[in-house]
Amino acid sequence: MKKQAKSPKGIVPVLLFVAALFIALGLGLGVRYLLLGSGDNQSVGPVTIGGPFSLVDHTGAEVTERNYLGKYRLVYFGYTYCPDVCPTSLGTLVEAMSKLSAGKADKIVPIMITVDPERDTKERLAEFVPAFHPALVGLTGSVEEVAKAAKAYRVYFAKVKAEDPNLGYLVDHSALLYLMGPDGKFVRHFSHGTPAAEMAAALEESVK
Ligand code: NI
Repeated sequence: MKKQAKSPKGIVPVLLFVAALFIALGLGLGVRYLLLGSGDNQSVGPVTIGGPFSLVDHTGAEVTERNYLGKYRLVYFGYTYCPDVCPTSLGTLVEAMSKLSAGKADKIVPIMITVDPERDTKERLAEFVPAFHPALVGLTGSVEEVAKAAKAYRVYFAKVKAEDPNLGYLVDHSALLYLMGPDGKFVRHFSHGTPAAEMAAALEESVK
């Protein structure tokens, strides 16, 4: 009986220790989140972002990365059936561009490369992109070419089953926005959720 009476007391320090471990773990993860964002931008750094692609734009023209030489590009990978993330990202992009000083916005070509080439035909993109911004370019292509472009930009995407069967499928994808320079080289990126004002200020500084 004595032993049994003692054991609940003995368990208290153990529980405290476990609680402390969880708190430490939580703090650690929290700090990591603050430093690295949600984790999807860890690949940005010494790794090369961007590269050659061969796609079709929403007007039906065949384009490569060379078509945009001399212009800054804001490159986003998304798709027109995206229920929330893409419209938010593109909305922020458009709002940020509208805040730029005269001349700077004209130096930037915003580009959305679809991660859903099977449904995002050039016709579908032609209906979608002008609704966001007159300068927005929609790019699509074969599944292989899109995969190649995504790989060059270190973009992850994968089809997932939608909960709503009417939607068919959704496409999970990285939601980073890349600013590429007039030479086609990576300048900087913006994480999903970057406020438009912050993005505009950074673009104002980066775009010469
Ligand atoms: Ni999306």
